Amino acid sequence: MKQTLINKLEDRTATIGIIGLGYVGLPLAIRYAQVGYKVLGFDIDPIKEEKIAAGQTYFKHIPGEKVQSAVEAGFTATTDFSRVNEADALIICVPTPLKEHREPDISFVTGTMDSITPHMRRGQAVSLESTTYPGTTEEELRPRLEQAGFNIGTDCFLVYSPEREDPGNPNFTTSTIPKVVSGSTPACLDVANALYSGVIDQVVPVSSTQVAELSKLLENIHRAVNIGLVNEMKMVADKMGIDIYEVIQAAATKPFGFVPYYPGPGLGGHCIPIDPFYLTWKAREYGVNTRFIELAGEVNSYMPRWVVGKVAEALNSVSKSVKGSRILVLGIAYKKNVDDVRESPSVEIMQQLREMGAKVEYSDPYFPEFPAMRHYEFDLESQPSDEAALQDYDCVLIGTDHDVFDYEAIFRSARLVVDTRGRTKEQNERVFRA
Ligand SMILES: NC(=O)c1ccc[n+]([C@@H]2O[C@H](COP(=O)([O-])OP(=O)(O)OC[C@H]3O[C@@H](n4cnc5c(N)ncnc54)[C@H](O)[C@@H]3O)[C@@H](O)[C@H]2O)c1
Repeated sequence: MKQTLINKLEDRTATIGIIGLGYVGLPLAIRYAQVGYKVLGFDIDPIKEEKIAAGQTYFKHIPGEKVQSAVEAGFTATTDFSRVNEADALIICVPTPLKEHREPDISFVTGTMDSITPHMRRGQAVSLESTTYPGTTEEELRPRLEQAGFNIGTDCFLVYSPEREDPGNPNFTTSTIPKVVSGSTPACLDVANALYSGVIDQVVPVSSTQVAELSKLLENIHRAVNIGLVNEMKMVADKMGIDIYEVIQAAATKPFGFVPYYPGPGLGGHCIPIDPFYLTWKAREYGVNTRFIELAGEVNSYMPRWVVGKVAEALNSVSKSVKGSRILVLGIAYKKNVDDVRESPSVEIMQQLREMGAKVEYSDPYFPEFPAMRHYEFDLESQPSDEAALQDYDCVLIGTDHDVFDYEAIFRSARLVVDTRGRTKEQNERVFRA
């Protein structure tokens, strides 16, 4: 069975099922279709099924033509999970958020397993790509497959391969980012290699699913901790009147042993603010405290409050209070040039300013209307950011530095600017770094 599956994967006659057609699943589906595989996408969201049937995109950073050409090459999407048996390999890309008290919520993963196992057949591969704590594949996926009657490594091949997608990054695509792969058994690892070698330039096999799971967490914890460090350095440099960006630029000329990270208004997105706490939770089972993770979380989650303090300082310098001031937040996405607002620090800043009595508005071409969010509600539409419009506000805050904004006009026209992204070297009575 193993060899039959590997042959089908290698000669690209295999059908690839992608479960969860979000930021990770959609580009992966497009990539498999591009190189000639038949791709069947599964999602619980019927809107995604409709959009794909019409050859349309639902993410600004993924052009419609790419979806259209993938559809022409054999990519279809469905909400009908009974069709799971049509796929030779099933790749799971569903969300792994945190619960209210920062505990892992793997219910999307287990829910997916429960909805696919009744429709699976012998000879299929299941690969989990969602970020999660070490042990998930062996403790949650494997027993579910075994209970459904499969023999792992013989008639069912279980794989874990963490996703490294970086939406909006023009320097890397799905195929050019090396991919770590692992299998539940040596036979599963062979299948993993065949599954990904056709679409990824460099596949990196590791010895166990736990190694692959923890390697992904290490990558994201490394970022969270270093961003926490540089945010702390920013606050120190600010007090000392030193330009943190010039400091980083100087340090980064060292050709070894230093990696530049840049400060900002806080962590955002589906990965960096969330994933580290998957390890914190699991480490507790082993009696280990993850103090670096907690400390970085503390510094990073304080950043929006620090930025709000800078807005107050800026307004104070012209004898105004936050209460009653009109403030325009530029950019609500969590990072530049994407239409993803998950965990965005700009939105937390808007919330804090509103609680202090400011009249807050936003401008973000990626969100003509303020999107629905789990913890925030703003009944707002995106405002223009031309020179005349900027002059109407007491303070303009650069929250996310999308390339579409005209920074020269912003620094020239706004009455006060608070810049959280280091867009200018200038600091004067109108321009405040935060
Ligand atoms: N967004 C990124 O940049 C990124 C990068 C690396 C890793 N990851 C990881 O990849 C995973 C997916 O993240 P994402 O950003 O693509 O999430 P997403 O929210 O964009 O997409 C998830 C999709 O899964 C669908 N879904 C939810 N439950 C489902 C179910 N039971 N069956 C089928 N479909 C279901 C949703 O409707 C949605 O379309 C997460 O574990 C995340 O941590 C994300």
